[in-house]
Amino acid sequence: MTPREAFLTVHAGIPRQGPGTPEDVLWALERLGISGEVSVCDAGCGPGADCLTLATALPEARIEGVEALPHLAEEARARLSHLPHVRIRQKDMEALSGPYDLIWCAGALYFLGVTEGLRRWCDALAPGGAVAFSEPVLLPGEVPQIVRDFWAEYPAITDLDGIVARIEAAGYAVVDHRLIVGAGWEAYYTPMKAHIAALRAQDPGPDLIAALDAAAHEIAQWEAAPDHIAYALMLVRPA
Ligand SMILES: C[S@@+](CC[C@H](N)C(=O)[O-])C[C@H]1O[C@@H](n2cnc3c(N)ncnc32)[C@H](O)[C@@H]1O
Repeated sequence: MTPREAFLTVHAGIPRQGPGTPEDVLWALERLGISGEVSVCDAGCGPGADCLTLATALPEARIEGVEALPHLAEEARARLSHLPHVRIRQKDMEALSGPYDLIWCAGALYFLGVTEGLRRWCDALAPGGAVAFSEPVLLPGEVPQIVRDFWAEYPAITDLDGIVARIEAAGYAVVDHRLIVGAGWEAYYTPMKAHIAALRAQDPGPDLIAALDAAAHEIAQWEAAPDHIAYALMLVRPA
């Protein structure tokens, strides 16, 4: 097993691949007034947790999940196969065609860059359409070292003002935002902890042990500072 395969093994077979809860999705739909026969894309949908929430909340909508990694697209497909108004596509979210009333993007826009991704998606939005995305954020006040260590592999992280500046640079305006702290991270890390324990029990090889240790270290860092490690969920529209 290569280090890349080991990383993917640790990050497979769990309900979600980043922090968030169904309440975050429902809050965004309510704040943006998204309901009825709308068209929604979950960009970078991973195993489809938020697709499921979107599809349940919007039974008359067309929901499209877009995911680059084949095994995650397959997990999402299997999970949502009972919902005829959901379609999962394995493709690059950089090239969305739309038109969508909402592009939901949990923890994935940073792969494109906030400004770059929003610029690309502008043409994929229907008139009045919106983007909801979550992005790592530094909370106000002095940033503890453990938080800096946690985000060491994401040097582009800023505070909320920095995210707003990247949004405005793309020609969008902020409708509203909320922080994802605590429960959303538990929803991500609790199943991952169980998955790590199950893989450790299967006599893993050295590459898998290294990937398991790295994931366990990340969780331990979060557990040491759960009130300081946050994503911002941003609701934005072209200005
Ligand atoms: C942190 S995970 C979040 C997954 C999911 N939104 C969730 O919350 O469970 C980011 C996801 O974005 C996907 N991704 C990254 N770049 C992508 C791209 N260019 N096109 C499609 N998916 C992409 C990754 O494969 C991964 O599944």
